[in-house]
Amino acid sequence: MGLVMIVFCFFFGRFVHSSQEIQLIARQLKEDQPARVNRHIVLIVQELGHPYWQLVANGAAEAARADQMDIEIVGPVHHSMEEQIQLLEKAIASRVDGIIVQGLNDEKFTPVINRAAEKGIPTLTIDTDAPTSKRLAYVGTDNKAAGRILGQLVVRKTGGSGTIGILIGSESAENQLQRLQGLRSIVSEYKGLRIVDVRASNISAMEAIQQAADMLQAHPDITIMAGTSATDALGILQAAKSMNRSDIAIIGFDDLEETLDAVRQGEIDATVVQQPFWMGATSVHLLRDYFSGKSLPSTLHAQVEIIESNSPDTGRLP
Ligand code: BGC
Repeated sequence: MGLVMIVFCFFFGRFVHSSQEIQLIARQLKEDQPARVNRHIVLIVQELGHPYWQLVANGAAEAARADQMDIEIVGPVHHSMEEQIQLLEKAIASRVDGIIVQGLNDEKFTPVINRAAEKGIPTLTIDTDAPTSKRLAYVGTDNKAAGRILGQLVVRKTGGSGTIGILIGSESAENQLQRLQGLRSIVSEYKGLRIVDVRASNISAMEAIQQAADMLQAHPDITIMAGTSATDALGILQAAKSMNRSDIAIIGFDDLEETLDAVRQGEIDATVVQQPFWMGATSVHLLRDYFSGKSLPSTLHAQVEIIESNSPDTGRLP
């Protein structure tokens, strides 16, 4: 009996020892395996905290959460193309998994976007395209077409005769130049319409007020003003109010809350509405698709909507 107990204890001891060893090996194997790391992508906006770009950022952040990617949203505090390019270079140097960038100026951005592509970093353009670059896809408005819509609104509001002043967001931003080009192409079809001044607001509401006031001072015969970036019409409205020019028709871009309020009040006649939240979300989903081996469309245009103060469409305003 005693011998049986000794043999039992011996084998039981061996069993406990082996199972401890197995557990140890299993733990080591688990530790050696790298934990699944989310893809790290970067979104480079035109200006951090700008209400339009905040909508783009919100869309991108929500999509990244849903697609289990880590997104870093960066941009200059005050709009600066040079700083945007530096941020793009930094993202390439830190070998992120994917980049979404506003391709503000094809000539300046193309060599840097191409460097990202050569390093194997998939890069998408958003809001403004750099069409000659090796970007995988562009997500945003067809800016020339949107400019033509702005032009048609000017025609509709003036009946084809009037003196026009225009504010654009920036002279180096191709989306703004394309919108201006689209607008001009419509206006040029009407003998009675004349563009007398074009100035840049540097996507700043304060600067838009200043530029619009200077324009009205220089051309008191202006009857209609159009703005091609998100805060331009609001700047025009402030300037017109401060100069008691409630006779001026105003047409703008985008649907920031203050713009919609002004359309509701009839102070801004119409606005061409883009889809910044959709742009942010869609570009992140496209990167997800790329990572899972799908091929991407080269261009995804966002739909544009018109909201006019005197049309039934205004009924959709909350
Ligand atoms: C444009 C953006 C710009 C924003 C700011 C938008 O209409 O699409 O490129 O940054 O306005 O005002």
